[in-house]
Amino acid sequence: MAVYLALALALAALWAVKYVMDWTAAVNALRNYPGLRYAFGPDSLAVKSRIPYFSAGYFNVFTRKHRDFEEFDSDIVSSVSWLPTPGRLLMLADATAIKEVTADRVKFTKPLAVYKILMFYGSNVVVTEGDEWKRHRKISAPSFSERNNRLVWDETMHIVKELSQVVWAGKREVPVPNVVDLTVPIALFVIGVAGFGKRMSWFEDLNVPEGYHFTFKDALHIVSTDLRLKLFVPEWLLKLGPAKRLHNFWTAYVDLEHYMRDMIDRRKDSENKEERYDLFSSLLDANEEESEGSAKLSDGELMGNIFIYLIAGHETTAHTLAFTFVMLALYQDEQEKLYQHIMSVATDGKLPAYEDMGKLSYVLAVLQETMRMFPPVINIPKHAEEDTTLPTQNMAGEKLTVPCPKGTAIMIHTPGLHYNSRYWKDPHTFNPSRFLGDWPRDAFLPFSAGPRSCLGRRFSETEGVAILTYMIKHFRVDVLEEPQFAGETFEQRKKRLLRCRTALTL
Ligand code: HEM
Repeated sequence: MAVYLALALALAALWAVKYVMDWTAAVNALRNYPGLRYAFGPDSLAVKSRIPYFSAGYFNVFTRKHRDFEEFDSDIVSSVSWLPTPGRLLMLADATAIKEVTADRVKFTKPLAVYKILMFYGSNVVVTEGDEWKRHRKISAPSFSERNNRLVWDETMHIVKELSQVVWAGKREVPVPNVVDLTVPIALFVIGVAGFGKRMSWFEDLNVPEGYHFTFKDALHIVSTDLRLKLFVPEWLLKLGPAKRLHNFWTAYVDLEHYMRDMIDRRKDSENKEERYDLFSSLLDANEEESEGSAKLSDGELMGNIFIYLIAGHETTAHTLAFTFVMLALYQDEQEKLYQHIMSVATDGKLPAYEDMGKLSYVLAVLQETMRMFPPVINIPKHAEEDTTLPTQNMAGEKLTVPCPKGTAIMIHTPGLHYNSRYWKDPHTFNPSRFLGDWPRDAFLPFSAGPRSCLGRRFSETEGVAILTYMIKHFRVDVLEEPQFAGETFEQRKKRLLRCRTALTL
């Protein structure tokens, strides 16, 4: 017994020595560049909040915004974590360094392990690298065409018009206790029709098709909300479904797979393929036109890409719109400015058409300012493939050079960049006008940048501008008065309304 104990102690001691050596090596590789030293770093999803020595807290990436950079007096801050193994990371809030990282997709790749959660249904354009990514991007990029953008505009207007004229018909006031309950269905309907040619109205889609347990809309919503369960809970336990949430998730997951397979099969079988400009039809067309058989996407890969369009296509936009309505309700002067701007474009009382989108500059500015303050993606991860250095500055503007050895993890810290006063005057103030005229484009990164930037940017902007234009033209958005909050100050109210968390997106 004593021998085993001694052996175990010796092994533990060896492990501890190796562990300390690895940690020291990680610190030395970054030449002990100033930054965070916690058991769990800010890129670990293990603990949400900051706890001294234990956790940097992944949600603190959003809540602290540019503060860590100010405290360590540099627009690049390091992090060396201890668990599960010593890891080094550079957090970037410097526009020049970020431009270098996003422009060179060979030197700085995507750490694919982080994206595992997005490939359950099949490989796709978000979760691939190198030649594999090129193959996916070549077939998916043409879907995001001008014709598709026009479809997004027309269908979005149709959806909000139906909401206003039919669902809310005859109502002078419409209480919406949680704004997300409004913006998520709108965004789902838009991706349903402009993404998949599947029109889901506020009334239709109530009946669950035979062989399914959920409507398409509900299956998609449940899967995207609880996707992490698939990563952390073993499949047998999900199938067993001991808790309602697990059971619902698994049922919705299987339903969604059937819906997607059914869409692929139906489209393949249909004899006369009408010209359609939804993303899914264009994806299948581009795949069929691909002459080299080996370059074609398999059914599994098609399904993977469809899933990405579904997920990327609604969460981000829905939550951005939710934040936008809250900000407009809080800042009534900005809402009035926006209303006057819309009315100046909608002369003769008509609804602006897609061609007018360029004139609706203030509407886009309101969305951009919201995304600056509440970037849906708070961490865009990269991985250094070779030894290099990155340029930055301290708070006094003096130039600094940061070592970035091969293997270093990189976090493009969008809240740090978006609240960096070097680029944005009074960054904590909601001021959409800053996006009119000249503004620091390299310091605005909600959609990432470079070759791996968001394919759906124009899709989402078109949808957002259409929704805001219609809603603000027809309604005034106010904070719902509730007796239990009667005595609260403006700051307390703001804090309450802007309470948020981060799941797939903020
Ligand atoms: C407010 C709305 C949106 C935001 C903030 C956003 C943000 C982003 C970001 C940050 C990336 C880069 C991710 C990374 O490098 O890990 C990305 C990539 C991507 N997004 Fe979006 N997105 C939005 C809307 C959309 C929509 C509506 C679609 C499709 C319908 C879409 C499709 C994609 C795709 C396919 C990629 C992968 C591009 C590639 O790797 O080549 N996104 N998005």
